[in-house]
Amino acid sequence: MIGFRKFSLTLLIFMLVLTAAACGNDTDAKPAAGSGEKYSFKLAHITPTDHMWHKAAEKFKEELEKNSDGRMTVEIYPASQLGSEADMVQQISSGSVDFGLITAAYMSSRAPAFTAWFAPYAFEDLKETNAARDTEIAKKILATLDDQGLKGLDYLFAGNRVMLFKDKEVKKPEDMKGLAFRVTPSPPLQDFYKSLGASPESLPLPEVYAAVQTGVIDGMDMDLDATITNKYHEVAKYAAVTNHMVWPSVAIMNKDKYEKLSDGDKKIVEDAIKVAADYSANTRASQEEEFKKTLSDTGMKVYEINQKLFEPYIKQFDEKYGPTDPLIQEFIDTFRK
Ligand code: BEZ
Repeated sequence: MIGFRKFSLTLLIFMLVLTAAACGNDTDAKPAAGSGEKYSFKLAHITPTDHMWHKAAEKFKEELEKNSDGRMTVEIYPASQLGSEADMVQQISSGSVDFGLITAAYMSSRAPAFTAWFAPYAFEDLKETNAARDTEIAKKILATLDDQGLKGLDYLFAGNRVMLFKDKEVKKPEDMKGLAFRVTPSPPLQDFYKSLGASPESLPLPEVYAAVQTGVIDGMDMDLDATITNKYHEVAKYAAVTNHMVWPSVAIMNKDKYEKLSDGDKKIVEDAIKVAADYSANTRASQEEEFKKTLSDTGMKVYEINQKLFEPYIKQFDEKYGPTDPLIQEFIDTFRK
């Protein structure tokens, strides 16, 4: 009898010790993140590796890998390695690539509501622009991708648009008359420059340097970051820092893959892209003065043009594009002061 009691007591103590050890482990371990599934993602974008969007892609990768405890990995394909933006979006909607940072300019050709982001002078500065990501209208525009096999996750801003001129100091919109001007092949951008009297030339980024160098174009619509990374200061003498339009890339994901993620994993993805987007806008905002100085130091004349001179052209844009889509009208009504 004593033997049986002793055995029962030993067993009880043994079980208590086991339970305590298991509880101890639970307390030490990090809370389980997401589902436990493993993912090897691919992300594609068009900019060179020294552009802010690539740095933001690296930030996204770092956050995702850290917050999933290594269950999620990301391979980044920069600088159009996987083709044009049209090719990349096709690969993302078919699922051979998972994520993309795609210009809103290109996305506006597939989902017209993205045109709203090109309403000229809609925001004061990058801080205000970045805050617009969190608005209802910005989210409604992302949701227009739902029926294209794409999940619109967020926007990344990397500096507003400026105007570079090969050898003419343009001081007012009317000075643009007759200039052959490189403008991204996107209707709202092209229309804006047509309204200023310029002749827009649809050149993709890799062809721009030679075109301005050889005088095929007189100038270009660009951002300061890409001006420096592509060395346009070597071929253009004037930079009018107009900041007349914002320049988002749209973070997209294959919709099926997004929907198959557990709620926890969706949150890991969404949080990582949010951190990358804030990093992109905040870092870029803090570099504005440094970039202007870098360009001045190369001998470029860096100057401003008073926004008031563009007011008739802003009105023309709103009157043309507002009525084309209720979301564009809502965007204009939300952000125009
Ligand atoms: C452009 O086409 O102007 C451009 C594209 C991506 C980043 C910066 C500029």
